[in-house]
Amino acid sequence: MTKSPLIVALDFEDVNAAKTLINQLNPKYCRLKIGKGLFTQEGPYIIDYIQQRDFEVFLDLKFHDIPTTVAHAIKSAAKLGVWMVNVHASGGEKMLSAAKNALEQCLNPPKLIAVTILTSLAEADVHAVGFQGNIPDLIRNMAKMAQKCGLDGVVCSAQEAALIKADCGADFISVCPGIRPLNLQDADARDCVPAGDDQMRIMTPDQAIKNGANYLVIGRPITQANDPSTALDDIYMQLALN
Ligand code: C5P
Repeated sequence: MTKSPLIVALDFEDVNAAKTLINQLNPKYCRLKIGKGLFTQEGPYIIDYIQQRDFEVFLDLKFHDIPTTVAHAIKSAAKLGVWMVNVHASGGEKMLSAAKNALEQCLNPPKLIAVTILTSLAEADVHAVGFQGNIPDLIRNMAKMAQKCGLDGVVCSAQEAALIKADCGADFISVCPGIRPLNLQDADARDCVPAGDDQMRIMTPDQAIKNGANYLVIGRPITQANDPSTALDDIYMQLALN
């Protein structure tokens, strides 16, 4: 099991491109995240492929449904031996508790994490959906609810990680996407992230860790880099040096 806080998001349409990247990366330096795209296309096979290469897997399917259905999905995820799995906090307390209870009989349960407000949403987007209040308050509320239901932590932007630590304590995990390394200020590196990049609430890896993030989810800055393995090493080194 690696001590690295880095989780590389394998957001590929083409499984062969994903496999090429997997075989370039070192499980000492990162875990891997499988999202809806690859899982819908490849199913559990891709998880097995990754686990056979000694990576731990974050299965990022963000379950959000009635409690019974989510409990079933979480049980099935646990059977795949994944390290982390998640649900949407906005599914409500009953759904979160059902997800937690589904892991009761599991010998080696995955970490169960609640997605708060997606890092692609700004305040205006959140209000357009009908949520009231500011994003940090909404996230704090969701985090407290997830903790009350026995979950291990939340997905949030690194901007909110310190608030969550203050409210929920050091052991409650913050998993933070929306990470953009400083070198994205270089013209070459900026090409790694498409112009229409959809993340709104971002931080550098270093800032994110200082702000209390436990795990950093990084996709395009690594997957779209000319040399993904070097991009990962650079981020790892930046963190190790600070
Ligand atoms: O390419 P990028 O670094 O923006 O990828 C971020 C990854 O984190 C994507 O796989 C996305 O689905 C995931 N994610 C996110 N925001 C959340 C939860 C997950 O960006 N709130």
